[in-house]
Amino acid sequence: VTVELFDIVVFGATGDLARRKLLPALFERDLAGQIPDEARIIGTSRRPLPDEDFRAFARDALGVADGVEDVDQAVLARFLARLSYVAVDAQSDEGWSDLAEILKTGEDRVRVFYLAVGPDLFDPICARIGAFGLVTDLSRVVVEKPVGKDLASAQKVNAAVGRVFREEAVFRIDHYLGKETVQNLMALRFANALFEPVWNNAHIDHVQITVAESIGTAGRAGYYDTAGALRDMVQNHILQLLCLVAMEPPVSLDADAVRDEKLKVLKALEPINESNFAQVTVRGQYRAGASAGGAVPGYLEELGSGESDTETFVAIKAEIGNWRWSGVPFYLRTGKRLASRVSEIVVAFRPIPHSVFDGHAGPIMANRLVIRLQPDEGVKLWLMIKDPGPGGMRLQHVPLDMSFASVFGVRNPDAYERLIMDVVRGNQTLFMRRDEVEAAWRWVDPILDAWRGSRDQPKPYTAGTWGPSAAIALIERDGRTWTDDA
Ligand code: BG6
Repeated sequence: VTVELFDIVVFGATGDLARRKLLPALFERDLAGQIPDEARIIGTSRRPLPDEDFRAFARDALGVADGVEDVDQAVLARFLARLSYVAVDAQSDEGWSDLAEILKTGEDRVRVFYLAVGPDLFDPICARIGAFGLVTDLSRVVVEKPVGKDLASAQKVNAAVGRVFREEAVFRIDHYLGKETVQNLMALRFANALFEPVWNNAHIDHVQITVAESIGTAGRAGYYDTAGALRDMVQNHILQLLCLVAMEPPVSLDADAVRDEKLKVLKALEPINESNFAQVTVRGQYRAGASAGGAVPGYLEELGSGESDTETFVAIKAEIGNWRWSGVPFYLRTGKRLASRVSEIVVAFRPIPHSVFDGHAGPIMANRLVIRLQPDEGVKLWLMIKDPGPGGMRLQHVPLDMSFASVFGVRNPDAYERLIMDVVRGNQTLFMRRDEVEAAWRWVDPILDAWRGSRDQPKPYTAGTWGPSAAIALIERDGRTWTDDA
């Protein structure tokens, strides 16, 4: 189904995000027939660039996407024809009236301003969008992370954007919410009667959320060193996943219905601060090692400086202080240069209360629901079953396995494809509301403060492993283990 007619203005149009994600995502949607004929993609950044060069840049960007060599040339030509470029300076008035002129012919269209730029430019860009009268009733702004680096700076960014756009027009992107399996988590919980009755501390022993990457800082060491794993991954992606697992059933999928419930979870997170951080958080930083079959340098070598206490790994035992979750730990971990790229949520159920089997049946493992985000998206429910054959009652732990690739055999759209179209449709369900972002920082800030105030450095781990041994101790101390066997 085609979406409404729109113009999208991409600030930072020749940057990394535009090249890797935005242009390919828009192109895929065009291939799918979702983009109206007249829709325009207007690239901007500071330096002048002829339209033709911007189109060449875009063509190049599409070459990165899968299978583009054999795409419909007519669609490719149509897509490239949508593109134009205008040089606009975020920090001065230069170029803005040119942009206004271009937009004038689309006054009645949905208008999307996509801020694919560093957070320092959010304020000056929004201010000029406002000053040049570019905000129409159908205008929306997309804000990329990081929204701030702590609560105070996030509030500043939000206030700057809020001076020009109503909250209903602000789309704070967290691309994890656009991932297919993440949305499936909602389908699983709320489209099945099976899970909700057992989705609580009476039946769930603990939850694990792992977002492991095998890459290092991938050419972004400068940014990364000012952020670290807690800001880069936990404050947004991992807390969003935690919210979707833990929230109460919303009344509907309306944006505010869902976001109200997520906010309650964030507010119920037990504080971590200087009094308890040493027991419930582990920071790590990778040293040289081996990854994907080759030798890789350590973080400090990548950074090109001998010193940094930025964490490239973090593990946290988080708790949610409410009726449903009291006593159920949520073990969170994420890091760069880990043993493999795998993201998954493990919901570990409690053991059975009493075994009717004799000792020969073997150990009875607790049920586990594993939601695999990437790679090999799918859901597995681990159950005990009887070993087939005449050998008596012997039990096995076996997954009921739904791999999306084999069940549906379709291409998995990139998160950005879904999210950009949601912006055009005006659907905010998968975007973060201002109070949510701020609540997440309210929980994260005291952890950062506690780390800063402590004399401990991040613990070293060898690239290509599962992080520092302290992260394993964090969960094993409670008689549990990380599972990475989905
Ligand atoms: C980004 C982080 O938000 O997410 C990166 O800034 C990280 O550091 C990336 O690599 C991971 O995204 P994905 O979709 O590859 O899991």
